[in-house]
Amino acid sequence: MDIMKNKITPTNNERVMTADEFIVSKTDAAGRLTYCNRIFIEYSGYTEFELLGQQHNIVRHPDMPRAVFHLLWSTLKSGNEFFGYVKNMTKDGSYYWVLANVTPSFSNSGTDVKDISGYFSVRRKPDAAKLRIVSALYNDMLLAEKVAGTSGAVAAGT
Ligand SMILES: Cc1cc2nc3c(=O)[nH]c(=O)nc-3n(C[C@H](O)[C@H](O)[C@H](O)COP(=O)(O)O)c2cc1C
Repeated sequence: MDIMKNKITPTNNERVMTADEFIVSKTDAAGRLTYCNRIFIEYSGYTEFELLGQQHNIVRHPDMPRAVFHLLWSTLKSGNEFFGYVKNMTKDGSYYWVLANVTPSFSNSGTDVKDISGYFSVRRKPDAAKLRIVSALYNDMLLAEKVAGTSGAVAAGT
């Protein structure tokens, strides 16, 4: 599926979420999709069959700084919840911005990181004024990451 994703050319076509939509997904402990709600499927442009079992980066947009996902994963792996603005890419190259909340799920009643059994995410329409600030910041981060090259990207973006 990664091969499929890499063939997609990003376009300037934006899909804007409505205030009453929630995009929901769940993954296993390795970040592979185990559940996508109808709206997730609809926005992504993939079928449920194409999505389930794939890594969540199937909707990754190349404009997203690596440092954001580094922060996401370090937050989750330490047992905490993450809030962040994310630009995602659909199967046809369009993009859609979300405000994402991502949480770990635990197999026992506690919150010990060794019991993380998967992850859960709910996304909603981002506030337009905040998004203008965030997207400008992400552009700066992406530029810093490109200048730094792959090995130094996360540190530069952060
Ligand atoms: C529950 C959950 C939800 C996620 N949602 C997204 C998402 O909407 N978009 C995205 O690009 N990455 C999302 N990720 C992060 C991806 O797993 C991945 O780290 C990211 O796309 C960067 O991919 P890359 O490491 O191939 O660059 C999510 C991860 C988890 C665990």
